[in-house]
Amino acid sequence: VAHRLFQVDCYLWSSIMTLCLLHTQNTLTSFHLKPTLPVPPLQQTCEYYLAALTPIVDPEELNHTRKLLEEFQKPGGVGERLQKGLEQRTKKMENWLSDWWLQTAYLDYRMPVVVHSSPGVVLPRMDIFSLRYAAKLIAGVLDFKSMIDNETLPVEYLGGKPLCMNQYYQVLSSCRIPGTKRDTVVNYTLVKRPPTHITVVHNFQFFVLDVYNSDGTPLTIDQIYIQLEKIWNSSLQTNKEPIGILTSNHRNSWGKAYNNLIKDKTNKESVRAIQKSIFTVCLDAPMPRVSDDMYRTCAGVQMLHGGGSRWNSGNRWFDKTLQFIIGEDGTCGLIYEHAPAEGPPIVSLIDHVVEYMKKSEMVRTPMVPLRMPQKLRFHITPDIKKDIEEAKQNMNIMAHDLDMKVSVFSHFGKDFPKSQKMSPDAFIQMALQLAYYRIYKRCCPTYESASLRMFRLGRTDTIRSTSIDSDKFVKAMDDPNTEKVALLDKAVKAHRAYTDMAIRGQAIDRHLLGLKLQAIEDLAALPEIFMDTSYAVVLHFNLSTSQVPAKTNCVMCFGPVVPDGYGVCYNPMDTHINFAVSAFNSCQDTNAARLAQALEDALLDIKTLLEQTPKAKL
Ligand code: COA
Repeated sequence: VAHRLFQVDCYLWSSIMTLCLLHTQNTLTSFHLKPTLPVPPLQQTCEYYLAALTPIVDPEELNHTRKLLEEFQKPGGVGERLQKGLEQRTKKMENWLSDWWLQTAYLDYRMPVVVHSSPGVVLPRMDIFSLRYAAKLIAGVLDFKSMIDNETLPVEYLGGKPLCMNQYYQVLSSCRIPGTKRDTVVNYTLVKRPPTHITVVHNFQFFVLDVYNSDGTPLTIDQIYIQLEKIWNSSLQTNKEPIGILTSNHRNSWGKAYNNLIKDKTNKESVRAIQKSIFTVCLDAPMPRVSDDMYRTCAGVQMLHGGGSRWNSGNRWFDKTLQFIIGEDGTCGLIYEHAPAEGPPIVSLIDHVVEYMKKSEMVRTPMVPLRMPQKLRFHITPDIKKDIEEAKQNMNIMAHDLDMKVSVFSHFGKDFPKSQKMSPDAFIQMALQLAYYRIYKRCCPTYESASLRMFRLGRTDTIRSTSIDSDKFVKAMDDPNTEKVALLDKAVKAHRAYTDMAIRGQAIDRHLLGLKLQAIEDLAALPEIFMDTSYAVVLHFNLSTSQVPAKTNCVMCFGPVVPDGYGVCYNPMDTHINFAVSAFNSCQDTNAARLAQALEDALLDIKTLLEQTPKAKL
């Protein structure tokens, strides 16, 4: 869900010090068979760029941009030169975009990963909290890991085409490392002796839990449970310094604090143990009680930031790629650091774990005594204490600022749009356009993530849901005298057509970014099209959206990407849709619950419209 490019300044690129995308021999069976990401034709991108601008900038601005684009595309001009540069890059690299994207969208991005980058996932609430549940969950993840280790993960498909599975190899045993100017990501599966432990955190205290026996077999659920009990019982004190909260800070501040923290040998070893661990399990303290209908929203907040320093924000290591969260009050979910992967691999891991947990029962195994899990020690100097206090304050400001609404739309799911021969995703996106238009009486730049995993090391591009056709539809919807259904049909088809372009590597956003970065790499003056107001406007995504489908009845959630925007994530199931809408309280003009309600109304109104219209009219 990374789309922070409006924040990207001009700078020179140095080589990326990330182990995570070094594709060694264990990176995948099917990986080398994938096609390489193409560079779309220059003229095509310029045409679609103008089309994308049409509903969101005024005609004068559009005219100005048209002229700049004509100049840019002239034979022998700047555009052609940069395009050739990109084409050269495709010959030298596995993927002309992925390193640039990792760096630009994630590792150079300096806002805290909390709320601003890391997505959370809300899982159904546990009936009663139990460490047995946690033990089963851990065993389920280890079961999934065995498929990664043996390279037996079934290859996924989109639109009938196999997908690159590389991201699955990046989510376990990896961690983001802060820097004072830019971060890195390290993947410890690629080291000589890959880790065999996870970390567990309870009451802000971290433990190393070895999850493999010396013969390489994973611990049984029973064994994990006993180890968790030992951890639980030796971390009952609640007065510990929340060292993990440091990871929630602005990246430059955390980078500085990190260098200070790891000056001490014990601290360095403890930090390294967390970074190297396969994943982290956060056993959270109970949050304030809420009514059942508020559960999902509160759980969304808990997954995204932990509730603030008084609650569970210190019970995390936010740099860790994968952290499962199990609350003493039954709350369940996870948070993941976004640099190594998108939501779909994370959610398919969850689907596997949930299935595993249904099947597996605790079987009493003969007990070989296991060592007490090692508690990680930290020496807190006055400077570190100061950094913790600063991180607490910033975390609490962020926690106050996040406005969240997680809801279930229970009237229909994918089934209804399918019955109308419409793409469910396009249908939902058009409802979202309508909801936004009804509130603001204007359309806004809208981002929807499109997978580029049909290509080697592919990540995402942008589906621009606000189109000339969506604009016509939303304006017509509340006007009694128009052919609404025909306009809806056209808008849905246009959205689906652009989706097909995007997943085939022909969308405009990453291409434009590539042309810009190529100019920077060439040390050439930045072309005017990138200094144009339209370019800033088109990247100001008031609606940042993503579909993350899952078999499990869960929903992913993430924060807005602009101060006056919304983050909207959804999991369309057959007969209902789970939505998570976020906004910032500091913005007077946005309100997550209001948009969620408008979205529900829009979905229902579109359904009524279609049901009232004879099929022949379509
Ligand atoms: N009539 C009937 N059925 C239709 C239809 C139509 N006109 N159009 C589509 N459908 C069906 C599809 O066959 C599919 O069926 P299934 O449920 O049996 O699989 C279903 O409806 C869903 O299709 P659609 O709603 O069009 O979406 P999609 O599954 O193709 O997904 C994207 C679209 C953009 C979400 C997907 O291409 C993508 O890129 N996903 C990755 C997103 C991502 O990375 N997010 C991560 C952010 S962290």
